[in-house]
Amino acid sequence: MSLLTVWPETDAAEPILRTPDPAAIASALEPIGVRFERWTADAVLPTGATQDEVIAAYRTEVDRITAAEGYILVDVIRLQPSDDPEWPAKAAGARAKFLTEHTHDDDEVRFFVEGAGIFYLHIAGRVHAVLCEAGDLLSVPKGITHWFDMGVEPSVAAIRFFHDEDGWVGDFTGDPIASRFPDFDEIWAGYAA
Ligand SMILES: [Fe+2]
Repeated sequence: MSLLTVWPETDAAEPILRTPDPAAIASALEPIGVRFERWTADAVLPTGATQDEVIAAYRTEVDRITAAEGYILVDVIRLQPSDDPEWPAKAAGARAKFLTEHTHDDDEVRFFVEGAGIFYLHIAGRVHAVLCEAGDLLSVPKGITHWFDMGVEPSVAAIRFFHDEDGWVGDFTGDPIASRFPDFDEIWAGYAA
């Protein structure tokens, strides 16, 4: 399942739209240039699977999208809860990295293969929160203001696609808008209920 919630940028209390329907999510995002697709992501990844193993499990899909869209680099981000005493600090650091509004000079393209995360797209006077789970491909065009949250206990794996070796860094706007909208844990609690 996936979930799209859309609010006016000035009011996080009353959503304009809330839908778990993949076709409705794709149609709502298409006018703002954001591509959303549902693929099949049913490979079982062992704990500690390497980046190459994750990519190999989805080789057909990765090759298809890489060839179609000219990506030159593919990697994997994977965070899983752990008993390691260093985990809470590592998780908090990873979460904080893109938790405030920013843009990139390259598209941000993610294919989720495990767990969940939420992209918040701030565009055209609205905030679109796209809760992505395994099977969701989201392509956020360069220049779109957005932030990303994966909660206090991140559990997510995603394949990332890049056009350029070093064009992908965050350019932060300084706008505190992210703090005014429900975070991952709040949306997840409402979604799972
Ligand atoms: Fe980003």
